[in-house]
Amino acid sequence: MIDVDVPAYVYDLAALDAHAGMVRAALPGIELYYAVKANPDPKLLEVLADHVDGFEVSSGGEYNHVRGRFGARVAFGGPGKTDGELLLAADAYRVHVESPNELRRLLATGADADVLLRANLRLDVGGAALEMSGPFGMDEDGLAECLPLFTDRVRLRGLHAHLASGLPAPRLLEVAARVLAHPYDEINVGGGMAVSYADPSEMFDWAAYGRGLAALRRTGQVVRIEPGRALTAYCGSYVTRVIDVKRVHGEMFAVLHGGTHHLRTPVTKGHDQPFTVLPTGSGPSLDGPVTLVGQLCTPKDVFARNIHTSLRVGDTVVFAMAGAYAWNISHHDFLMHPKPDFHYLSR
Ligand SMILES: Cc1ncc(COP(=O)(O)O)c(C=O)c1O
Repeated sequence: MIDVDVPAYVYDLAALDAHAGMVRAALPGIELYYAVKANPDPKLLEVLADHVDGFEVSSGGEYNHVRGRFGARVAFGGPGKTDGELLLAADAYRVHVESPNELRRLLATGADADVLLRANLRLDVGGAALEMSGPFGMDEDGLAECLPLFTDRVRLRGLHAHLASGLPAPRLLEVAARVLAHPYDEINVGGGMAVSYADPSEMFDWAAYGRGLAALRRTGQVVRIEPGRALTAYCGSYVTRVIDVKRVHGEMFAVLHGGTHHLRTPVTKGHDQPFTVLPTGSGPSLDGPVTLVGQLCTPKDVFARNIHTSLRVGDTVVFAMAGAYAWNISHHDFLMHPKPDFHYLSR
């Protein structure tokens, strides 16, 4: 892994294959979609396509990216769909409609469509990393306004509810129980399975979640989930090297090649990105609480703060958990540094 030009992303496709296989096996009778927004890398999608029932996309760009490519079904969601996107969405297996106005605009396209209404339910999602409240989906009034609008061409298939990100299995099951109690034959309970960046070994309990969903599912009911982060976070690493080590006003810094314009995850989530150090460097070492920063001209360009470690110029730093909401959410062009290379460990 260290034998690559850095900075680089390394995706372990074999690990992704094994992980997705484990997730799939834990969910008998439940439909598994992958939320493409977590990482749309085609090589990852190719591996996931062997395990999932479909892909969830949230823009015309994502739809065109996956359409016709993997033979999997596609659910088209996302707030604020343009008229062009609504036409594309109508072509998908399912459209997740976000408001009564959006449903009227979908009807006005004249296209055939199969719809899940996205519900914004006031449920207790305390402890979530992110609550998907605010503008997403509809409250009970919005849902009721939609019901009489359906026709034999634009058909109501069921409900969609992605209410929070970052919940452990027992909490996510409590939320799912409330959502699945709604009288729909098809319900997508969303993604949001917790991933721990503080302790990567603390994995979401897929077996318990699968058992819980199976117990909640009514006979004949289609239950679907659409995880993103918990499927692909683990398979990616961002590999880089120490350019400089320094002490400023008593604080120790290691300046790394690259930065959060390549790996924005720690800034957006406000965490320390887990990493390991490979001793490829030389010269005096910096020992103790070190803050690992990138090359950007902003104090926000921080990967991890005050971590007890030992670093030399030239050491290789391998950031783990960089397979989801990492490269694809980063502001690549800031400062016009070169892009990283991408490497794939084949399955
Ligand atoms: C509608 C919807 N579904 C699924 C996901 C995936 O969530 P996660 O990556 O937390 O599993 C998201 C993430 O924002 C989302 O907005």
